[in-house]
Amino acid sequence: MSLPKADALVFYGATGDLAFKKIFPALQSMVRRGVLDVPVIGVARQGWTLADLQTRARDSVAAHGGGVDKVAFPKLLSLLRYVDGDYADSATFAALKRELGGARLPVHYMAIPQGLFGLVGSQLAQAGLAQGARLVIEKPFGNDLTSARKLNATLHENFPESNVFRIDHYLGKGTVQNLTVFRFANAFLEPIWNRNYVQDVQITMAEDFGVQGRGTFYDRAGAIRDVVQNHMLQIVSSIAMEPPPRSHDTETLREEKVKVLKGIPAIRPDRMVRGQFQGYLGETGVAKDSKVETFVALQLAVENWRWQGVPFYIRAGKCLPVTRTEVVVRLRCPPEIVEGEKLPNNHFRFRLSPSFVIALGASIKKADLAPEDGRTAESVELEVAHGLVGELEPYEELLGDAMVGDSFRFAREDWVEEAWRIVDPAIQAGTPIREYAPGTWGPKEAQEMIPGGWYVSED
Ligand code: BG6
Repeated sequence: MSLPKADALVFYGATGDLAFKKIFPALQSMVRRGVLDVPVIGVARQGWTLADLQTRARDSVAAHGGGVDKVAFPKLLSLLRYVDGDYADSATFAALKRELGGARLPVHYMAIPQGLFGLVGSQLAQAGLAQGARLVIEKPFGNDLTSARKLNATLHENFPESNVFRIDHYLGKGTVQNLTVFRFANAFLEPIWNRNYVQDVQITMAEDFGVQGRGTFYDRAGAIRDVVQNHMLQIVSSIAMEPPPRSHDTETLREEKVKVLKGIPAIRPDRMVRGQFQGYLGETGVAKDSKVETFVALQLAVENWRWQGVPFYIRAGKCLPVTRTEVVVRLRCPPEIVEGEKLPNNHFRFRLSPSFVIALGASIKKADLAPEDGRTAESVELEVAHGLVGELEPYEELLGDAMVGDSFRFAREDWVEEAWRIVDPAIQAGTPIREYAPGTWGPKEAQEMIPGGWYVSED
């Protein structure tokens, strides 16, 4: 469902880290592109003035927004307002109401901890500001299925689901959007994109850095909650979903993604390996005896007509050898053409981050006439596309969508709950945590999970 264009943007946590790194840069770009021309009201409880927030905005775009734009930044400042106050204090919302003036369709973007979503929502309702307003919220959406349901119920006390926009910044990445576009825009894929041709799907989200000062947050989350329950399962949904009908609306599209998750049984603890990098216990904010995983590798099944029997492998971790998110869809091996020579799998490779690549892995005749290893074929990759896809940063794209009321690239409540259903038992199982050295691909048990090993791309 699409909603009308918003007439104000309120963002909570205006003095915080997310606003500094992502939101002000996105706002400047939106003004530059001419898609933001309504009041922008920052809210926080820091004892700041509007002048302080303006300085913060300038520092933010200088550091993270490609510099202060001579035309767009002054325009942004002219739109910017500030309300200082405690979220528990009704006076804060009375002040907000004054700043909103005649705005009737504001977007309220909560760059604040999830524990405050309900409080802010009910304050808005009490101040008579909930009607017509939409909420944009940041993950995590609960810590498990029970708390996610509770959060959804709390939000729905004052806001219908159609007005709740749950950000998963992966959905704002052009490279992730390309998974579905590439699939559904190419007729050659449809006959092979199924259990008859696909051997397995491997998704890797590797980061070559640790928790970067976020130890307190991370030690309550771990890799499964931090990135598997959301980003990784969104990727699975995009790879596995059925094409929507020609005349579709946002909800039909989101429905297809939910259907994928409905076909995924809960992760089996015996099909999962959890690891922790050496040195994690010394990080600030981390419990000295923490059993939280900084790495996980696991296997999923998508039990529907298209994917029955095709394993989906996911691995995600901190302090790995590279920073890279990649999907490899491996096709079944061709039969031998020379006795005893097993030919490699053909594959499709999608690099989603930090760069963009779509590549097709194929085998050709080996160049040397008398190959020493006796093999006749060798693997090559054909790059179908590489470089930039989309010019917009995820936050700019997603905030823009929320402002025009398009919810396609946001997680729907039932998707979020299904995702928790899938990961919850694995989190609760308390499986052993295995140490790994920083700069390696995690515990050796994870390496051994896939017959033939994980596909590792060369660059
Ligand atoms: C966030 C996680 O959601 O995604 C971080 O909380 C992770 O731990 C980040 O580093 C990765 O996002 P990106 O866009 O840099 O791949």
